[in-house]
Amino acid sequence: RRIVVIGGGESAEHDVSLATAEAVAEALRSGGFAVDELTIDRDGIWRRGADALGSRTIGSLAGALNVIERADVVFPAVHGPFGEDGTLAALCALTHTPMVGSGLRAGAVCMDKWATKLVAEAVGIPTAPGRLVAAAEIAEVGFATDVVVKPVSAGSSFGVSLARDASRLREALRHAARFDDRILIEDVVRGREIDVAVLREADGRRWASPPLEIHADGLFDTRSKYDGSARFSVPADLDGADREALTGAALRMFDALGCAGVARIDFFLTDHGPVLNEVNTMPGMTARSQVPRMFAAAGLSYEELVARLVDAAAV
Ligand code: DAL
Ligand code: MG
Repeated sequence: RRIVVIGGGESAEHDVSLATAEAVAEALRSGGFAVDELTIDRDGIWRRGADALGSRTIGSLAGALNVIERADVVFPAVHGPFGEDGTLAALCALTHTPMVGSGLRAGAVCMDKWATKLVAEAVGIPTAPGRLVAAAEIAEVGFATDVVVKPVSAGSSFGVSLARDASRLREALRHAARFDDRILIEDVVRGREIDVAVLREADGRRWASPPLEIHADGLFDTRSKYDGSARFSVPADLDGADREALTGAALRMFDALGCAGVARIDFFLTDHGPVLNEVNTMPGMTARSQVPRMFAAAGLSYEELVARLVDAAAV
């Protein structure tokens, strides 16, 4: 079958998306699929290999659609806004093209950390106490200590900083505002950082991977996510009750959000149980990223994982 893998994109996660797309394309090729690779440049121009498919966004998209038209399945390996947020899912829906992963609604809700929080709380999964601030209201934010400041819509921790005192708070808010005009201020949660991935198979059955624990030196931030300094243990060393609470919460979020394909659901495990951090509908998928590591621990090779994602692709 012919698979079109899309990488790059206009968000801050452009390079991360290129790495995921390359790894996915390679795994698909070695699994016997015919693969076409499309790349979206930072300025929105679509390319096929080295060739720009047009000199302007719309024209290049028309060229990309000619490639997509010949695909059996699209694998949109694009993280962050302008990709993972439902925009590429909308393109696939409008063109009736089967695609890997979550549809428009789940992508859009999960990209929005505030909306995700509301869904989590509605299904009884705690999140960090937090509030929403408009970028235009930064100057009015009062004193807050020990908080994490995040753009509502971003990924790979871009725009995220820890503010332990008031002077850092201003700086943190201004930094987050470079990525989004809505900003989330959350209390710091003290707990172990644990991820669970959920895979929805072609028959609709979905199951949770063994949990993975992140051991970062300090904050698991953009730097430690990609410089190789963070260590993972998978399966995480957990007692039965904690493991069940984490996987149960991951499945509940996956279902409540209506996710498809694979999602990585990130938690803090506190003394009072799991606290949801966020949900990623197109998580990083290089061979050393968390998701392939988690499924490997369940006996599923990377090649098998991407093949199952393609099998489960839906319109
Ligand atoms: N947003 C990055 C790619 C992740 O969740 O893995
Ligand atoms: Mg994320």
